[in-house]
Amino acid sequence: MESPFKPDILKGKVALVTGGGSGICFEISTQLGKHGAAVAIMGRRRSILDTAVDALRSQGIRAIGFQGDVRKQEDARRVIESTISHFARLDILVNGAAGNFLVSPEDLSTNGFRTVLDIDSVGTYTMCHEALKYLKKGGSGKDQSATGGLILNISATVHYTAAWYQIHVSAAKAAVDSITRSLALEWGTDYEIRVNGIAPGPIEGTPGLQKLAPEEMKNKAREYMPLYRLGEKWDIAMAALFLASHAGKYINGATIIVDGGHRLSRPRHIAKEEVKQLSRIVEQRSRASPASLASSKL
Ligand code: COA
Repeated sequence: MESPFKPDILKGKVALVTGGGSGICFEISTQLGKHGAAVAIMGRRRSILDTAVDALRSQGIRAIGFQGDVRKQEDARRVIESTISHFARLDILVNGAAGNFLVSPEDLSTNGFRTVLDIDSVGTYTMCHEALKYLKKGGSGKDQSATGGLILNISATVHYTAAWYQIHVSAAKAAVDSITRSLALEWGTDYEIRVNGIAPGPIEGTPGLQKLAPEEMKNKAREYMPLYRLGEKWDIAMAALFLASHAGKYINGATIIVDGGHRLSRPRHIAKEEVKQLSRIVEQRSRASPASLASSKL
């Protein structure tokens, strides 16, 4: 799908995308690259990184892959330093690395719970912390005159209310959103770094959706969630581009929900025609006998 943004909006910028080898974050890497940025991707598996880097380069994107686990501080530091050595600067950090599986709380060990928090929440914090000196205004590897960089944290919507079998992910993503706000306040003020998030809904063709919603579940979901339809990775990447571009210069501390309204979805408990009639009957009754309606409410 064609992008509505000009191809040079990120010219001269350098992005580092964790989890950029696959899924949503690969598409974010692609679109950042297609709009002028040089892109470093970080992931645990060499073969996935190599395939992704080949695909990015074949589209004319300056790309490199660095192997590392966001749970390890030394990996975070090494990958950020390698990005600086390779591209000489860092402007955009996308924290997309995440762990997920479906599990009920009684079957989830403390270590399982901690593992997802370690990747999503602590990993996001570690990457931000290690990247700070390069992202801040006048930070090393950047022009002294430049403004601060951008951090983009990929979140979710599962924690807005509650989601079945996602207690670990809900806790982890709630922490990610909180980190987004805190850093937006503190680093926005001190270093002109903007810190924002994107909360994707169910996105087609991602490892997350394959794991969390097998085909039969998706079909069922369409029945009981009227707004249920799948988004595309492109939808998330366009939100990332908007936030990374000059158009997003006044957006700080926001997590943009890109879910087609999915989080609002609930079954229609009564048909539209039926509600029209029923509501008139109730109104007529209340006009005829206000006292009886008041007492019936009690
Ligand atoms: N159900 C219950 N517990 C699970 C589990 C599952 N499906 N998968 C892992 N765990 C538990 C393990 O049992 C272990 O706990 P224990 O030591 O008490 O037994 C703990 O989580 C760590 O598991 P381990 O396999 O050692 O973790 P890992 O370091 O290899 O991490 C995950 C792998 C768990 C993050 C894995 O799901 C993953 O790598 N996913 C890929 C990323 C992904 O799905 N991205 C999409 C995001 S939407």
